[in-house]
Amino acid sequence: MPSPAIDPSFPISFLRLSETHAGWAAVPLFEDEDPGTLAGDPALAAGVARAVAATGFVARRFEALVVPADEKEFKADALVLLGAGKVDEFTPDVARRLASTCALLARGRGASSVALLHRSGAGPTASLAASIWAEAWAEGATLAEFDPGRYKTAEEERKAMPPVTLVWPGLPEAERGGARSAASRGQLVVRCANLARDLVNEPGNLLPPRLLAERARSLADGTSLRVEVLEEPALHELGMGLLLGVARGSHEPPRLILVEHAPAGAPASPVLGFVGKGVTFDAGGISIKTAGGMDRMKDDMAGGAAVLAALRAISLIDIPLRVIGVVPSVENMPSGRALKPGDVLRGASGRTVEVLDTDAEGRLILGDALWYARQLGATHLVDVATLTGSCGIALGKTTTGLFGRPDDWADRVRALAEERGERSWRLPLVDEYKELLKSEIADTVNVGGRYGGSITAALFLMEFAGEDRPWVHLDIAATAWNDEARPYLPKGPTGVGVRTLTALAAAMAREA
Ligand code: BES
Ligand code: MN
Ligand code: ZN
Repeated sequence: MPSPAIDPSFPISFLRLSETHAGWAAVPLFEDEDPGTLAGDPALAAGVARAVAATGFVARRFEALVVPADEKEFKADALVLLGAGKVDEFTPDVARRLASTCALLARGRGASSVALLHRSGAGPTASLAASIWAEAWAEGATLAEFDPGRYKTAEEERKAMPPVTLVWPGLPEAERGGARSAASRGQLVVRCANLARDLVNEPGNLLPPRLLAERARSLADGTSLRVEVLEEPALHELGMGLLLGVARGSHEPPRLILVEHAPAGAPASPVLGFVGKGVTFDAGGISIKTAGGMDRMKDDMAGGAAVLAALRAISLIDIPLRVIGVVPSVENMPSGRALKPGDVLRGASGRTVEVLDTDAEGRLILGDALWYARQLGATHLVDVATLTGSCGIALGKTTTGLFGRPDDWADRVRALAEERGERSWRLPLVDEYKELLKSEIADTVNVGGRYGGSITAALFLMEFAGEDRPWVHLDIAATAWNDEARPYLPKGPTGVGVRTLTALAAAMAREA
């Protein structure tokens, strides 16, 4: 990604690890590695050999060992061995997660600062450009800055994040500038992803659509983004019956949040349109959800948060491309006014929908929003939505469902997501399943049955995205929230989507 606008802010040291001043000196180690491989830094090699001999540390991936550092050998207080797993399975993605593991641990244990040594392993990724490695290390370390404890009042539970420096002894002079700016870009983008995580973490009572719109305005602070928020009268005028229909059951009014990045000199085409589901709480409406786990449905605006945060990143990096963000936001509640199963709604595109299940609300509001993104002139569409539980049944909790067409566009988004450490897998837009969405009385129904539920949801969206321009749909229902802590990722919101959307804008700008 070209990034002239980023000031180098992520520190990289070119000294030996043993000569770097820090609270922690952290060294990634591979399974069965002979400490002799660290001979370029004799003090480090000796320290590691002693620690391994004393503890039997085997360097399994994401295991860590903290030992006091010998002050004659090190300028750090502690030597930290980081398990990096098998040497030939080490990739920038493992580096990214290893950096998170290290930074989270350092934060939890109150380290004052961290010096993290670059290693590149073996195999085809070992020779990747320094900028690619630097970006991955920086992204990983920055992910640890996210603080979920906003509403904790006990200070001692809220740990400060120690500063992290990447240590890359002997990186050739010619590669330093590129590594520095790539690391700084990674830090900037992940800081935006962390802002998305903050939004997703907010409970429904404190972040209804009105306030999500306010937060969108503050996300634009210090950027050249233009934010516009449409309220009910404007939504009526546009005929957005799908969005208004879902919103009916709630006391909280809906919003359509529009964010635009339109840098001077950007080409007239392509124009990227990012559409994010912004359901600030999804009770299911009259087709109400069961109580167990319903609290999680505060994360049903994670797609919208990803779009807003990505636009901030895109603006701060100053990517020379027009990008439009559209976030339809509602609360999906049951009430005497609420949408009922069997009701028919007419969306802004004119299409009518028979609502068989009010819990399939995301596709309704996205229908109006996708249509609007087209009206605004988006030539390429990507929507991001916590859309279906069945996507998680198909792909599990760490893999986003990716739909789209044409194939080369979908594959391209998938490849960029993979590079940024956001795993996804393509699911098919099976033509025959369109039958499942036929209505007796309207143009379509809003649910296609239990089988292939994420596919019929995507097919529903496709009717609104249109046949005439590239479109991708990311179903992040299972990936927006991590419900089992891992060494590199705590429980809670993941910020998924921000890195992919930002990388996509940068890649498109490079070609435009
Ligand atoms: N927001 C949910 C999807 C969801 C489920 C997100 C679990 C995160 C975790 C969505 O609005 C929904 O309720 N989908 C229904 C669709 C069904 C009624 C066809 C679902 O997945 O059960
Ligand atoms: Mn729902
Ligand atoms: Zn929902």
